[in-house]
Amino acid sequence: MNRKLFYFSGTGNTLYLAKELKKKIEGMELVKIRHDMDFNCKDCDIAGIAYPVYCFTLPKIVVDFINKIQFSSSTYIFGLASYGGLLTSSGRNLKKMLNARGYTLNAGFAIKMPGNATHVYEVPSLEKREAMYSKVPDRIAQIASIVNSKGSYGIDTNLGILGRLASVASKGMMSKINESDKVFLVDSNCDSCGICSKVCPVGNIKIIDGRPQWQHRCESCLACFHWCPKASIQIGKKTASRNRYHHPKITLEDIVPQTKTELVK
Ligand SMILES: Cc1cc2nc3c(=O)[nH]c(=O)nc-3n(C[C@H](O)[C@H](O)[C@H](O)COP(=O)(O)O)c2cc1C
Repeated sequence: MNRKLFYFSGTGNTLYLAKELKKKIEGMELVKIRHDMDFNCKDCDIAGIAYPVYCFTLPKIVVDFINKIQFSSSTYIFGLASYGGLLTSSGRNLKKMLNARGYTLNAGFAIKMPGNATHVYEVPSLEKREAMYSKVPDRIAQIASIVNSKGSYGIDTNLGILGRLASVASKGMMSKINESDKVFLVDSNCDSCGICSKVCPVGNIKIIDGRPQWQHRCESCLACFHWCPKASIQIGKKTASRNRYHHPKITLEDIVPQTKTELVK
């Protein structure tokens, strides 16, 4: 029995959901999505793809993964999106990408979590965050029961036709995502700890003369920005006064990539 839940996560929301789901599915392993991973899942009877919604669609690294991963024709495949409010029709994009590779999406789940796009809006209040966290256990139990029985389920969406249009239009928005780091800055609070470089899931940050330098292979996950212990990374002019966020039950050790195909306990 080979069961894998592939995940990508910048601030831990998706990883937290993946960890909770793993607990309820026998034999499930968590595998971090990386460019240099093993893309063979041909002997998987169940495979999940857990991702945060970016710009009404999937992160570029997750799209690259979908274009390379190999399942068998009998693999039960499900998606698990974490999103800040604008889920739109992002799950349909996942379905189309899998269909193009000859695979079927059996279920497209989504769970609303605190939005981490802090370059656009402030981190939700503690009250709002806790309200979201409190809904997770029931939803995970429901998802686990469907996955364990390899049941069929639709695709979670929101915003109706507007959501559909947004997810179709999102292709253009994502095409320049690797260069989104051009507006990242580091201020004088930086103490050269290097955590930004360690949390970057794609090795996009070099520390040069004690300061981070972004290499334009950015996935825009904002891990560097949110995990900086001095809040010294800024994105444009608005973020200096804004809070930082990561999921309270996910630690630096959970998020830092360590091995090629890291398995999380
Ligand atoms: C660059 C970027 C774009 C985002 N776009 C969306 C979006 O279109 N819709 C949405 O609901 N949330 C959006 N979000 C919020 C994340 O999907 C959400 O906070 C998610 O739970 C983060 O997961 P993580 O903690 O695993 O990284 C975006 C976040 C980032 C960093």
